Amino acid sequence: MKMQDTMSVTVIGLGYVGIVTAACLSSRGILVYCHDINPEKLSAIRNGVSPIYEPGLEDLLRNAVMNGRLRVVEDPAEGISRSSYTIITVGTPSLSDGSADLSQVFSAAETIGKCLRSLNQRHVVVLRSTVPPGTTIGPFMNILESFSGKKCGLDFGLCFNPEFLREGSAVEDTLNPDRIVIGCIDQKSGEELLSLYRALHQEQLPPVIMTTPTSAELIKYANNAFLAMKISFINMISRLCEKLPGGNVDEVAAGIGADKRIGPYFLKAGLGWGGSCFPKDLRALRRIFLEAGLKPHLIDATIEINDGQVEWVCRLLERELSTLSGKRIAILGAAFKEFTDDVRESQAIRLANRLLNSGASISIFDPAATINVSKVLDGKVDIAKSIDECLENADAAVIATPWPVFRSLTPEKLREKMKGKIIIDARRIIDPKLFESSEFRLLILGSYMESRRE
Ligand SMILES: NC(=O)c1ccc[n+]([C@@H]2O[C@H](COP(=O)([O-])OP(=O)(O)OC[C@H]3O[C@@H](n4cnc5c(N)ncnc54)[C@H](O)[C@@H]3O)[C@@H](O)[C@H]2O)c1
Repeated sequence: MKMQDTMSVTVIGLGYVGIVTAACLSSRGILVYCHDINPEKLSAIRNGVSPIYEPGLEDLLRNAVMNGRLRVVEDPAEGISRSSYTIITVGTPSLSDGSADLSQVFSAAETIGKCLRSLNQRHVVVLRSTVPPGTTIGPFMNILESFSGKKCGLDFGLCFNPEFLREGSAVEDTLNPDRIVIGCIDQKSGEELLSLYRALHQEQLPPVIMTTPTSAELIKYANNAFLAMKISFINMISRLCEKLPGGNVDEVAAGIGADKRIGPYFLKAGLGWGGSCFPKDLRALRRIFLEAGLKPHLIDATIEINDGQVEWVCRLLERELSTLSGKRIAILGAAFKEFTDDVRESQAIRLANRLLNSGASISIFDPAATINVSKVLDGKVDIAKSIDECLENADAAVIATPWPVFRSLTPEKLREKMKGKIIIDARRIIDPKLFESSEFRLLILGSYMESRRE
């Protein structure tokens, strides 16, 4: 590949993955052209404003825009014609049958294919959106070839390169990944993508796994399914701990996590997993199994346990309050995890909807996700601007997202605002000692719960 003096990349799709990828690449001196079909996103980014909340992103983005290393392009051809790589990071949400909706990926492929037609230099297309095994070398490549009139491998390179970043630490994860997986259609494409990663990580290049596009596609799904399964497993154990005097799921998790064969990560019990990836990716993998004529036993159990966690908390509240109807519940946290404003498939939002259906009224507070909460729950709940406002007159409060700020809740603070005395810590962040001699009944998911004193 004839490299230009400065390495240059076009990123198509500026959501959580795309904008972080673009900002990180440009922070290491790579010239990045950014394109999205959403004009509001483009104008925010052009002004150095991040369209999402993500720690560390705003500064990277502002610097990159100011020093001209990150350039917004309304016409993707403007970027593709000047760069050596195009990275696709468009969304792959669920269809109603659970399979992945690939329409954004196919429309991006069409756009790129048209741009490749008139390009007379080498270009590598890198699909980074999560897609079912077989997509890259199947329909995706076919669209590229038919719209470009060129032959993949001969005239342009192609890789599937899964993304493993976690929202909330996306910048850190992008700059310091555990490994890079490159599924390449041929050796040349793989080496070309590797040279981009060498420029990004320089001396700190992480382990690289070179494989076929199909294996790389499956690695991404299997990775997410395994992590979700670990959380559901510990949540299953968590329910048992609640019934055993002295039971404490964190201690069990620490005990099993110290075994190197298990590892300490993704063993935090609580309300369960959510977000824009695990739910849709597990549904998609489930469909892939069924279409292959195989039973997705563990995936089904993983999903069932997770769905049950919201129900578990509702039943707990119902038992403590006798009824949910007419009760006011304060939900602390709305994002699917801390340090993000993403509420897609958040367990906190599911909990709010479930409680509303049972006749409760809801106030909800999140330190970062207010705008996104209003998009999904507007008019149905009271969206509070502070913890105090959220707790006002509540019969019960539930910690639904483990934001560190909720650790500061004390009986004194709650007493001032709440009407009732029930606190459910569904994320295990409160120190129970603070509540020991108070009038509050603190119920911590995964810790032994004494039966209710009548
Ligand atoms: N969010 C995560 O934490 C994460 C982590 C790893 C992998 N992924 C995968 O990465 C992909 C992107 O995820 P996301 O959360 O960033 O998605 P997102 O929905 O936040 O963003 C997708 C963006 O693509 C844009 N878009 C759609 N069609 C387009 C087109 N034809 N041309 C240009 N732009 C277009 C949309 O306007 C949107 O801004 C998904 O496949 C997801 O599964 C996400």
